[in-house]
Amino acid sequence: MSTEFIQEAGFALITSEVDLRSQIWEWRGSGETIALVPTMGALHAGHISLIAKAKQHASKVVASIYVNETQFAEGEDLDTYPRDHEQDCEMLKEAGCDLVYIPAKMYGSHHSTTVSVGGPALGLETNHRAHFFAGVALIVTKLMNRVQPDIAIFGEKDYQQLLTIRRLTADLDIPVRILAAPILREPDGLAMSSRNRYFDNVGRAVAGQLNIIMRACAKAIKDGEDIKISTDKAAADMIAAGFDNVNYVAVADINSLELLSGRLEGSARLLMAAHCKGVRLIDNCAVG
Ligand code: PAF
Repeated sequence: MSTEFIQEAGFALITSEVDLRSQIWEWRGSGETIALVPTMGALHAGHISLIAKAKQHASKVVASIYVNETQFAEGEDLDTYPRDHEQDCEMLKEAGCDLVYIPAKMYGSHHSTTVSVGGPALGLETNHRAHFFAGVALIVTKLMNRVQPDIAIFGEKDYQQLLTIRRLTADLDIPVRILAAPILREPDGLAMSSRNRYFDNVGRAVAGQLNIIMRACAKAIKDGEDIKISTDKAAADMIAAGFDNVNYVAVADINSLELLSGRLEGSARLLMAAHCKGVRLIDNCAVG
């Protein structure tokens, strides 16, 4: 991508790292506080709610758009991931975002550094997408270093990602406050996701069952049913509803993501992942 710098009243689109740093420097000089909302584009109302939250906590909001190759494995949808920068920028401008950063280059040809994550990154998603959190940790670290925000906002839709980034920034002393934003849902309860646009009508109808099954499972656990019995039933209900397969249905500690069993005491997070007509879906909710 060629370097672009578009500036209008109250809005800038920047693709060069040098231009980004000089804008951040200027804002810092005039005492602004900065929030970062990292995205991969293909924006929907869920992303816009992150911008709204960012605006409540900082005087300047930067959104980044970058489809990060290091978090995709071979055979995943890196090449087909929806990209529509023009529409994304319109939505971000409308939402009151001050700067959209679409990096022209993120990884140099000699890039050879990785970020290894543990703790909440282990298990669940990692059992099915082994590369994923290392890729997310790498891009988030690089974006934090370029933007140097005071706060950064991540959606609870990717709950394990949120906890992994909290751990990462705390462990590496990255001076940023990580804020979580609640999941936004379609009218039938399906969690909003850029990948929902892959569905045809049949797939979309099946996908809408995920949160219904999840809520029933969360209620059963809250009412005292054994966690394994409830999660096994949820997995069976998903297959009966037309899902291709179930990656996991699990109940975990809200901070460490350590898996829980038996009867729940206190509160926890219910997390699930499954393929629905070829599209991978994740969702989660609080229990108790
Ligand atoms: O959640 C996402 O969209 C991505 O994983 C993120 C955090 C923008 C990193 O590429």
